[in-house]
Amino acid sequence: MKTMKTLFVSVLAFTFLLSSSRAQEFEPNYEESKVPDYELPDPLIFPDGEKVNTPSEWEKRRKQILQLFENHVYGKMPGKPEGMSFEERKNIPGALDGLATLKEIRIHVEQNNQKHHFDLLLFIPNEPKKPVPVFLGLNFDGNQTVHPNKNITITDAWVSNDDDYNIHNHQATEATRGMKQTRWPVERILDRGYALATIYYGEIDPDYDDGYKNGIHPLFDQEYLDTDEGNNCASIGAWAWGLSRGADYLEQDPAIDNEKMAVLGHSRLGKTALWAGATDQRFDIVISNCSGCGGAALSRRQFGETVGRINNSFPHWFCENFKKYNQNEEALPVDQHMLMALMAPRPVIAASAEEDQWADPKGEFLSVKHAAPVYKLLGKKCLPVEEMPVINRPVYNTTGYVIRDGGHDLNNYNWEIYLNFADEHFNKTWPTK
Ligand code: GCU
Repeated sequence: MKTMKTLFVSVLAFTFLLSSSRAQEFEPNYEESKVPDYELPDPLIFPDGEKVNTPSEWEKRRKQILQLFENHVYGKMPGKPEGMSFEERKNIPGALDGLATLKEIRIHVEQNNQKHHFDLLLFIPNEPKKPVPVFLGLNFDGNQTVHPNKNITITDAWVSNDDDYNIHNHQATEATRGMKQTRWPVERILDRGYALATIYYGEIDPDYDDGYKNGIHPLFDQEYLDTDEGNNCASIGAWAWGLSRGADYLEQDPAIDNEKMAVLGHSRLGKTALWAGATDQRFDIVISNCSGCGGAALSRRQFGETVGRINNSFPHWFCENFKKYNQNEEALPVDQHMLMALMAPRPVIAASAEEDQWADPKGEFLSVKHAAPVYKLLGKKCLPVEEMPVINRPVYNTTGYVIRDGGHDLNNYNWEIYLNFADEHFNKTWPTK
């Protein structure tokens, strides 16, 4: 009898596992008519049903929402480490034909008897001769991939293998210099009077599932790693933490106007930029480029990539609790419009690409749109449209959105919009070229 019962339970468990793994294999939905009905949680209602009526009540509500994202999506965010120092390893004033000063800063962090470091690459325009605003963003393949300049140090951290660039054994090579330069129009950014700072995300935390043993994770106190609570700081949290350490450096560099720091990211690094913008209000502008699921796109729409799929493919990106929402999005206590609302009153813009249906462009638009009540409460103007704009027509006030033609990428067209958006919000006073 006991054996029969055990057999029955095992068959049941097996069937359940099989069906849940099948659920991950379903074709993603790309049809608007198949988007389920859903109701978004209201960012302006307290859990007891009271309405948020004033900016100071919003401050209280904001803390609650931030905590919900920590507990259910990205995990708890550690603060500044006990020890941190900035080692200037390069300072080349006449770089890029005299256009810029190129700096490399090694950011050393230390805590719980553990040490780690990562390198920030910084281009500062030599004109104008006054502190300038800055864009900070993580890069995917090493700082040397951003620009072919030979002075840039090639990362010695783990990188993805890539036959085209002769990358084997996860070690970057000379061939990777400038390999991602189309994503980083450095000269154009400098010409427009902005500095550009970037860090290779793999130096902060290598992008593979290793049980949070490497990168900066060993520095975190147990409470940030403890999976009993399910709100462990996973990889997106670690990368966002690295962005904040980048801001720590930038805000004390006299060449930088530290009240004008924009954070930006593409794809998984767009999700990261949003989380950094939510957790660190020193970022004055937040830019999400094709960030999709777990970024700007509403989870409840289940369009393209879903919560179940992302957790299945990238189990180390979000906290353990996020997995509870696999095929169960309606149970989430938040949705991504509330992440957008956490940026308020600071400017935020999301960009999608027409062919990037995996990232759900409409879901990205809607989360910007549904953040509006919070921005309005704080006296800010939101999107000037109610419906999704046509292709290549950016729309913005303090919040913004654009869908461009083409695929999943960060390109010159995107940068022109971000530069214009920043010009407007930073009240830039010098002429642009
Ligand atoms: C995958 C993943 C996306 C992510 C993207 C990227 O496509 O499913 O969520 O944004 O990788 O970071 O390139």
